[in-house]
Amino acid sequence: LPTPGTVEFKNVTFGYPGAEAPVLSDISFTAKPGQTTAIIGSTGAGKTTLLNLIPRLYDATEGEILIGGVPLKDLGRDTISRNISAVPQRPYLFSGTIASNLRFGAQEATEEELWEALRVAQAEGFVAEREGQLDSKISQGGTNVSGGQRQRLCIARALAAKPNTYLFDDSFSALDVNTDAKLRAALAEPTKDAAVIIVAQRVSTITGADQILVLDHGEIVARGTHEQLLETSETYQEIVAS
Ligand code: GTP
Ligand code: MG
Repeated sequence: LPTPGTVEFKNVTFGYPGAEAPVLSDISFTAKPGQTTAIIGSTGAGKTTLLNLIPRLYDATEGEILIGGVPLKDLGRDTISRNISAVPQRPYLFSGTIASNLRFGAQEATEEELWEALRVAQAEGFVAEREGQLDSKISQGGTNVSGGQRQRLCIARALAAKPNTYLFDDSFSALDVNTDAKLRAALAEPTKDAAVIIVAQRVSTITGADQILVLDHGEIVARGTHEQLLETSETYQEIVAS
């Protein structure tokens, strides 16, 4: 990519093939490098769908998405996957070692870099305790680690790739509040030049975000910082109170 990737949505509408109504309507926002953009909203609001449009799991029905000013369709799949790390809502580990899982998307990462990614992801401790450490085996689907450990390993995988755009889909909700807070504090340094987009359930995860988008039935109904939204958005107040 020419520059660290500013992610820009311009009047994006999206409907799943065969579905009657669009799931996202007229979405516009800019996620800048060095900033955290948070997306919050009730279940089914369209948060995952919105994130999935960025690595082109689907293409917008109307409107345009640009990264670093270049329309997604002109970037090419390789460029997109090299520059975007997405941690999906249901993170997936494949059968193999911890190292091979972490090197997915970062083949050339050294062991030192893997440990650094694990440290940031608050996963260093439990990996160090496993027999074989980085070479310890993960079973298909990651069933021999806990859900929270799986989530942290997938965050470490995203970090090891050193992308310029990070997409976290509800990646912190399986963590206890303390680990969540530590992890986000540790993320500040490695993601300082990247555009970070976080989908969250817990308001405490995103109170420090540079901008928060409140998504409701596929539309952005409010946007601003936590303090601004507390004053301006009833939907946000309801989320905070819930
Ligand atoms: P949570 O993760 O539960 O908080 O919801 P979300 O905000 O991430 O919503 P998501 O983007 O997953 O879904 C938005 C809408 O699209 C919902 O009405 C879903 O039922 C629908 N949807 C999601 N995935 C698909 C799909 O693959 N096909 C179709 N036809 N509809 C889908
Ligand atoms: Mg979702």
